Amino acid sequence: MRADQTAAWQNLVEQAKTFAGFDLRTEFARDVGRAAHFSQAAPGVFADLSKNLWHAEIEAQLLALAQQAGVLERRNRMFQGEAINTTENRAVMHWLLRQPAQGAASDAWPSGVKSSLKEVHDTLNAMLAFAEKIRDDKHITDVVNIGIGGSDLGPQMAVMALQSFALKDKRIHFVSNVDGHELDAVLQGLKADSTLFLVASKTFTTLDTMTNAVSAKRWFEAQGGTDVSRHFAALTSNVQAAGQFGIQTCFGFWDWVGGRYSLWSAIGLPLAIAIGADNFRALLAGAHAMDQHFLHAEPAQNLPVRLGLLDVWYRNFLHYSSRCIAPYHSGLKRLAPYLQQLEMESNGKQVDHAGQALPYGTAPVLWGEPGTNGQHAFFQMLHQGTDVVPLEFVAVKYATHALPDHQALLLSNALAQAQALMLGKSDAGGHKNFSGNRPSTFILLDDLTPFNLGALIALQEHRVFVSGAVWGINSFDQWGVELGKVLAKDIHARIVSGDVAGLDASTAQLLQRVRAA
Ligand code: F6P
Repeated sequence: MRADQTAAWQNLVEQAKTFAGFDLRTEFARDVGRAAHFSQAAPGVFADLSKNLWHAEIEAQLLALAQQAGVLERRNRMFQGEAINTTENRAVMHWLLRQPAQGAASDAWPSGVKSSLKEVHDTLNAMLAFAEKIRDDKHITDVVNIGIGGSDLGPQMAVMALQSFALKDKRIHFVSNVDGHELDAVLQGLKADSTLFLVASKTFTTLDTMTNAVSAKRWFEAQGGTDVSRHFAALTSNVQAAGQFGIQTCFGFWDWVGGRYSLWSAIGLPLAIAIGADNFRALLAGAHAMDQHFLHAEPAQNLPVRLGLLDVWYRNFLHYSSRCIAPYHSGLKRLAPYLQQLEMESNGKQVDHAGQALPYGTAPVLWGEPGTNGQHAFFQMLHQGTDVVPLEFVAVKYATHALPDHQALLLSNALAQAQALMLGKSDAGGHKNFSGNRPSTFILLDDLTPFNLGALIALQEHRVFVSGAVWGINSFDQWGVELGKVLAKDIHARIVSGDVAGLDASTAQLLQRVRAA
């Protein structure tokens, strides 16, 4: 049943009407158990959801909504390998990439899923053996990952996050943008015989990536490089196209892994080179632990379910249209862009499974910047702006540096910001008044380890699944990126030829302007 036709949705509409007077400060004063009720541990993470604009009755209605909208059935279908990505007729099995080879495999799985698990581990073993070989190869000093979107954001985010686990004698570069400045800047510092290029593309057709890959190969040959098979590897589900490109070393994955869910597949190779096989397996183990939590924990104590439902409450009932991510760890610099693709490409949809227009909002805008930088930039708006923006803190208890003072200061800032948003300050009045009652979620990791990072990312994947399932959309296709690609091809031909016939007046004048000598 479409979410807005359920009884729970109607109840939530009513709850929202009487919500204007809700005040977090009063709620904490009235309920000593509030922090405990809205906090929980899950694998690798602790989460405090108590400073959010909700109470137990709303949460109960949201859980009823999940039940009435069939969220858990859909979850179970995903974990059975059913083709829940109906517009592409594909299963959605990124979770299988982190399933251990032995032991927990479910007897209830269809045989196709069981045989996929074997392929997963064969490829994983080969990929990790290759990573170890490169790690031992003293001649390779630089690894350049050429890929975009899901073939860039995940490994790049994780390589940065896990720097303290990374080999010090190899530099890992990421080139994504078709803007030649990016590749050019990376190539400036490289030598052909000490560089390994990884061409990462699920489809092996993405124009940005193919353009960069062709230029990288040209540069390699111009530098006197001859052994393409030693210096280029492909990470792709289109092994044939990689072969045609001239790459023999190829690590494959499957059409049931969405690009933005592919960190766990061969797309993780740059990360595996950086942190090694054992650490990569720890990342998978963390994600698997979160999968098990999502699959088995009671909905009321199921962190991805709780977060996903909170997202629905904010988006559809309190009508907040964005969420800010504030990681208080500089290694999580690329977390916000990674989560942007995960959430906005998954749930930025306006029709239901049958293609019918939806009458309610879906994905919020996600944005953010590591603290404390954000505090000195846009937090002003979060504290005193006219829009309420739920903030998600991601903090890490222990640092890996040995500098005194910094970590306690950093964590003080995270806690103080969450506190300030909630408490506000009304004694000053006017410009100095803080209304308070501003919502935030606090996620805490003990350490930024591969296991904990894997769990954190899987948590985010599943919370996006939950809100997408409530909204009744297909979170696993991305048709919205196609039109721009098609038009760019046409415009490219016109930039070369100068033909503006049939173009709208604005595009025609801009085209003429960029062509003018
Ligand atoms: O254009 C969007 C997209 O298809 C993403 O979904 C994907 O992660 C990215 O492009 C890169 O695609 P590929 O890995 O096939 O090159």
